[in-house]
Amino acid sequence: MRGRFVTFEGIDGCGKTTVSKKVLGRLRKRKVRAVWTCEPTRTWLGNAVRRGWAEGAGVFTEAFLFMADRSEHVDEICARMGKGQTVLCDRYLDSTLAYQAAGVDEDLTAGMMDWLRRAHLPFLLLPDLTIYIRVRPELGLSRISGRKGRTKFERLAFLGRVARNYDALAAAEPQRMKVVDGSGPLDGVVELCLAEIGKIL
Ligand SMILES: Nc1ncnc2c1ncn2[C@@H]1O[C@H](COP(=O)(O)OP(=O)(O)OP(=O)(O)O)[C@@H](O)[C@H]1O
Ligand SMILES: [Mg+2]
Repeated sequence: MRGRFVTFEGIDGCGKTTVSKKVLGRLRKRKVRAVWTCEPTRTWLGNAVRRGWAEGAGVFTEAFLFMADRSEHVDEICARMGKGQTVLCDRYLDSTLAYQAAGVDEDLTAGMMDWLRRAHLPFLLLPDLTIYIRVRPELGLSRISGRKGRTKFERLAFLGRVARNYDALAAAEPQRMKVVDGSGPLDGVVELCLAEIGKIL
């Protein structure tokens, strides 16, 4: 049977990486053939995204780099699913919609999101399930305050806009995108995610 495609989304510090890796372990214990991946990827295209950040690339350059990385990643994800593996992906389409649309003037945000979504149409693989781990920007930032190499994404006002974009995305696609409260203890968040994934396996 074809595997499932599950993405983890939310603002910086909401717990995507920690939670998705724990979910991976739990699924494997249950003999689910699951694999973990992330965006930006660890390929040269993912490195190009990181280089764009380091060199202060503009919002459109950034969007194009993410899309190039994603278009190749989709092939990899499809191949995994074809082998019956369930793919857990730490950040995907919604990150680009939420973050890059927060990088333009507020009155252009909706148009930017719409354009980005349409630009993805020819190559996108839509997730079977997207788990949006929701926390307040203050909490996300406090969790990563000790981390080195903080990016411009991590500024509070910007993260507030990203959070609002995520909320709008979740409201627009309640079937695909499930909101999980990420502010409670880690084990509880993992359980909430497993409950959602259990519904689509
Ligand atoms: N529910 C939780 N309760 C307490 N601490 C948490 C919880 N979830 C994650 N953390 C901690 O918060 C920090 C950030 O988590 P993590 O790196 O998983 O976030 P992230 O969403 O992947 O962030 P980024 O978008 O920056 O990659 C880590 O130190 C992690 O251990
Ligand atoms: Mg992470």
